[in-house]
Amino acid sequence: MPVEIVRVSDDRVKSFFRETQREARTTLWNFSVVWHEQSYDVAAMEGESILGAARVLIAASLAHIEFVIVRPQARRNDIGRGLLAALEEIGNYYNCHKMTIQVPHHSAAQTFLEACGYKEEAVLPQHTWKIDHAVMRKFLL
Ligand SMILES: CC(C)(COP(=O)(O)OP(=O)(O)OC[C@H]1O[C@@H](n2cnc3c(N)ncnc32)[C@H](O)[C@@H]1OP(=O)(O)O)[C@@H](O)C(=O)NCCC(=O)NCCS
Repeated sequence: MPVEIVRVSDDRVKSFFRETQREARTTLWNFSVVWHEQSYDVAAMEGESILGAARVLIAASLAHIEFVIVRPQARRNDIGRGLLAALEEIGNYYNCHKMTIQVPHHSAAQTFLEACGYKEEAVLPQHTWKIDHAVMRKFLL
């Protein structure tokens, strides 16, 4: 039968990935892989209101920070620093060896991360929105 490549918008591809991913990841990495992915959120609370929040994705011994956001009126009060520290604690707990995050190159976010002990690991040229991005990291172990 001829093979046709088509767009699929139901759960069949999800099931396909579930069925094939263990073998595929093991072939890809060349060692046996059990993939387990979790994401955790932390928040800086003032009573019932959230002044800032951050999310980390834990997988394959990496803790990838998806975002850190502090409300504009609450900035420069060490809340961002505190949120990063809380994510690093989670990374440590799950035996991650490294924290990573991607931000626009030479941005205020990069300066913030450097103030929190993160180093520039690589620059991805013309990345999201065609802007250069810095891959920032902090080793935990
Ligand atoms: C980046 C962000 C999370 C920082 O949060 P914050 O609570 O203001 O950061 P902190 O007060 O903990 O800052 C710690 C240190 O980082 C540096 N820093 C923080 N914001 C900075 C900025 N805009 N420009 C330069 N340095 C900055 C400073 O050295 C600061 O210490 P200091 O205030 O004693 O000088 C916040 O500005 C924000 O939400 N920005 C929009 C979203 C974003 O860029 N998120 C990060 C990438 S996902």
